[in-house]
Amino acid sequence: MKIAVPKERRDHENRVSLSPEVVKKLSDLGHTITIETGAGLASSMTDKAYTEAGATIASDYNNTVKTADLIIKVQPPRVSQKDAIDEISPLPEKSCLLGILAPYVHRDLFEPYNKKKLTCFSLDMAPRITRAQSMDVLSSQSNLGGYRAVVEAVAAFNRAFPMMMTAAGTVPPARVLILGAGVAGLQAIATAKRLGAIVSAFDVRESAKEQVESLGASFISVPSDKDAEDSKGYAKEMDETYKARQSDRIKEALIAHDVVITTALIPGLPAPLLIKNDMIQNMKPGSIIVDMAVEAGGNCEASELGKIIETEEGIQIIGYPNLPSRVPKDASALYARNILSFLEVAISEESGAINLTSEDEIVTSTLLTLKGQTVHENFKEASTK
Ligand code: NAI
Repeated sequence: MKIAVPKERRDHENRVSLSPEVVKKLSDLGHTITIETGAGLASSMTDKAYTEAGATIASDYNNTVKTADLIIKVQPPRVSQKDAIDEISPLPEKSCLLGILAPYVHRDLFEPYNKKKLTCFSLDMAPRITRAQSMDVLSSQSNLGGYRAVVEAVAAFNRAFPMMMTAAGTVPPARVLILGAGVAGLQAIATAKRLGAIVSAFDVRESAKEQVESLGASFISVPSDKDAEDSKGYAKEMDETYKARQSDRIKEALIAHDVVITTALIPGLPAPLLIKNDMIQNMKPGSIIVDMAVEAGGNCEASELGKIIETEEGIQIIGYPNLPSRVPKDASALYARNILSFLEVAISEESGAINLTSEDEIVTSTLLTLKGQTVHENFKEASTK
């Protein structure tokens, strides 16, 4: 296949979809790879490194994609009439597009995908099964995001994280609260623990308790009569009685903590609101909240996308989007390996191209559109709008 790797053009995006390491592996398998000049620079992956790995460098977007069979991206392509940015029109008709296409958020892109008769695969739709772990982009990226959230909090906090016993007196350890103990939350716990903080965590899924405790943090429980976990291991939306109970418990916990990292998400729905404005007022001056769910509407009422909001009491609410992109070199390297693992399953050995009729669960669950038709059950409606 002719594979194209364009530079990412969405705001706050420093990652690139293939690393030189993975380019070499794909070239060795007989694929031809074209990289847009400078595509990897923010991830310290230079044109020279790509050339040495066997890729050709193209001078701009159009030259990168114009003859491609497969275009590999991190983010969905941009189509903005206002700014005259259109990353879809230059793609060859009937080519394949692979990336984190976030179809629940970008339903509007189905129409331009289908107009170009594209076959689109979205890796964030891959099933959470053992066989798909090596291509689980949500895990590889959230893990780094959880780490980075703690780093952002450490940098903004006006105290130290570890306890320090010095001749001038003792510095108490920071108390960190993690709301949502999925992949990002568990890494945030581990990172804060490594820095010496005392850590507590809360999740609606009771099964998270054991994982939280195995990392040395204490679990805050809110008893529920209903099962908060669906068959795929994701959280369900909770009822109003539970939400009120949870709100009281979080309000109480906020007073006792200095740093809060929120990571709570429910697939396909806006992020649950966990910290309302009146709850922030009770926090200690100088406290920090990092809202990792800000792009999905936020877990914290006060957070704003891309901004640090500071209250009169000096409480900072950090709403940086795309935290994995703030660790771009590692995030790109892991993402590229996720892509390679996916292609190892999706490419047919006989033809050397993606097997579009594969019945493998990994292929069918990531396939959004097939040559101009929306085929994914969850989005058929989106394309008819
Ligand atoms: P996510 O990014 O969808 O959500 C983050 C966390 O927020 C989850 O732990 C969720 O339970 C929690 N949450 C949702 N609503 C909440 C609320 N109101 N209050 C507090 N917390 C709330 O989740 P992620 O990180 O993608 O993990 C989802 C599940 O998938 C987990 O059970 C995880 O262990 C599992 N998983 C399985 C994998 C596999 O088997 N291959 C790979 C990665 C994750």
